Amino acid sequence: MDSAVLITLILSGVFLLAFFGIGSTVLWALFTGAPWVPTRQHEVERMARLVHANNNDVFYDLGCGDGRTIKAMLPYVTRAVGIEISLPNALWCYLRFRNNPRVHIVFNSFYRTSLHDATIVYIYQFPNVHEAIKEKLLHELPQGAHVVTHVWPILGWDDKLKEVSEEQGHPRFYIYQV
Ligand SMILES: C[S@@+](CC[C@H](N)C(=O)[O-])C[C@H]1O[C@@H](n2cnc3c(N)ncnc32)[C@H](O)[C@@H]1O
Repeated sequence: MDSAVLITLILSGVFLLAFFGIGSTVLWALFTGAPWVPTRQHEVERMARLVHANNNDVFYDLGCGDGRTIKAMLPYVTRAVGIEISLPNALWCYLRFRNNPRVHIVFNSFYRTSLHDATIVYIYQFPNVHEAIKEKLLHELPQGAHVVTHVWPILGWDDKLKEVSEEQGHPRFYIYQV
């Protein structure tokens, strides 16, 4: 075989593998949670103020996107963990925080990641995720941990609801304590 054809075939193969490999992790996020729709910057800062975090807190974002919530929470908390299943987002966060020893990025599904040391958990996912992760949160989080959801409440958790934050024209934050 002509070497130019061979090189073209190899390069095409590498490209296709990378395209479908990365694409599949993005698609997987659609099936296991929500696609990447970032919390708007103004909202992220509002959330960071709302949770009254202190330097004993460990913040987790379940599906951390581009890491904006982590960046906003870092001045208040001792550590932050971003869990992300989509490879481009996980890589971006890894690069973004690679020099910060207080940040840990996990390239995995939040269903398969332990949350045992989280004291504040942020969830911006579809409501079906709330249903699926409720038991895990109750089982793994330390007593007194806060769970913040964006846009949608956690059904059946009214007894744990501490605050609903409303600002006209902006989606709500629901703050729970377990
Ligand atoms: C609505 S976006 C929220 C992004 C970020 N938390 C923010 O507020 O800007 C949902 C994110 O969750 C990720 N995701 C979806 N399912 C996931 C799963 N099972 N495990 C980890 N991340 C997931 C998506 O890739 C996406 O980045």
